[in-house]
Amino acid sequence: MILDRLKETTAEQHARLERRVDLGARLRGPEAYTDLLGQFYGFYRPLEEALAAVSGYESVGLAFVERGKTAYLASDLEALGRSTTNVPLAAAPQVRSLGAALGRMYVLEGATLGGRVVCRMVREALGFTPDRGCRFFNSYGARVGPMWTAFRAALVQFATTPEAETEVVVAAGDTFDRFDRWLATGAAT
Ligand code: HEM
Repeated sequence: MILDRLKETTAEQHARLERRVDLGARLRGPEAYTDLLGQFYGFYRPLEEALAAVSGYESVGLAFVERGKTAYLASDLEALGRSTTNVPLAAAPQVRSLGAALGRMYVLEGATLGGRVVCRMVREALGFTPDRGCRFFNSYGARVGPMWTAFRAALVQFATTPEAETEVVVAAGDTFDRFDRWLATGAAT
């Protein structure tokens, strides 16, 4: 089913992205960590804007407004003294359907799971907390589990045909690839 297929087909990309993020290096000091937040902001902002413009989320029980995380990144950057004004932004992908939107959201929603681990590491290494500097990685806080469960339920509700499944899986894979390229090179697409 869709959930297993997503996890299996993107496992290698997840591992690559984790290596790319290279938390060990990013947590050596506040500068490197703030640079990482800036790179995330540059990727999330245009993508979330494109996702917000898609309609139909309510047909699978979702509300996109509850899931935007760009504002968390902006508040972390501001708290750490970095303006968001000149942060380079990635090009937004075309998101032509609800299925494509859900596939891209899978990547951003899944990142909240890893965020719990990252949040603990950030606190230990740099002393930043969900109140200051680690709002993004804390994301939904105590609601990470229920938000993930609800998102998975929406995927199942949507992907009732092989075509719909494929639409989601292709968009998820493309999103992982784009994020990896963005972090590696700052390339817009
Ligand atoms: C370097 C930091 C990261 C760490 C330590 C990490 C760790 C994890 C962990 C532990 C899980 C499984 C949680 C669970 O099953 O309860 C997970 C799942 C996931 N992560 Fe990450 N992750 C990181 C970065 C990312 C990034 C940057 C993204 C994408 C933007 C991402 C996307 C996902 C997705 C989509 C899942 C869900 C897989 C599934 O069950 O279908 N992760 N991550």
